Amino acid sequence: METINLLKERRSINFFDPDKTVPEEKINEIIEIASLAPSGLNLQPWEVIVVNDPGRKEILKKCSFDQPKVAEASATLIIIANPNAVEENIDSVLKSWVELGYINEDAVETMRNMPFKNYGDKESLSRKLFAVKNTSFFAMSLMIAAKGLGFETHPMDGFSEEKIKANFNIPEDRIIPLLITLGYPKPGLKLLPRAWRRELKSYVKYNSFS
Ligand SMILES: Cc1cc2nc3c(=O)[nH]c(=O)nc-3n(C[C@H](O)[C@H](O)[C@H](O)COP(=O)(O)O)c2cc1C
Repeated sequence: METINLLKERRSINFFDPDKTVPEEKINEIIEIASLAPSGLNLQPWEVIVVNDPGRKEILKKCSFDQPKVAEASATLIIIANPNAVEENIDSVLKSWVELGYINEDAVETMRNMPFKNYGDKESLSRKLFAVKNTSFFAMSLMIAAKGLGFETHPMDGFSEEKIKANFNIPEDRIIPLLITLGYPKPGLKLLPRAWRRELKSYVKYNSFS
């Protein structure tokens, strides 16, 4: 499907077919395509837990204010932002840049310090914002990739982060910006028309805020 149509036709689908399964190879393919999303210094600070086991989906549903789609969809993905991705991934980023000719070996030490200047210390707010900002690009790409491969999705932040962390063994230092359900629409599902979008002139300015 052409990109513009994908963006225009993606919708948050509330009702999924509980009898149809998205194979794990397809889920992995969607995630791999989404991982082509841009990220600051290419640090890719995202992690995903694919919840596709029926019992585990029920637990996740309970952590998500009982939203039925969490369990009805073939899988619900816990999208995780990892503030530690700077320390974890910087060496791989720099190694690949040297190998591919983006930078010379003698620039490596200077470049290694860059993310600490830009994104602060592990515990800082700027580090958390870095992780969530980049993970959001990944999440949007994932929904578009899913649509392009013939599946539907629904982003959600109606959940208890504390409960999800406790039930899915997620370390305390991680952030969960959203969940994404993934699956096939319920047969015969008729969507209501796309809801209100703000008028461009109410939020777009050229050249200065005022
Ligand atoms: C970060 C985020 C969190 C959301 N959380 C929920 C949610 O918990 N439950 C829900 O039913 N919809 C949720 N939505 C879906 C929105 O309500 C939906 O995207 C919006 O109404 C526009 O509909 P559309 O995506 O079909 O255009 C969320 C969307 C986003 C992007």
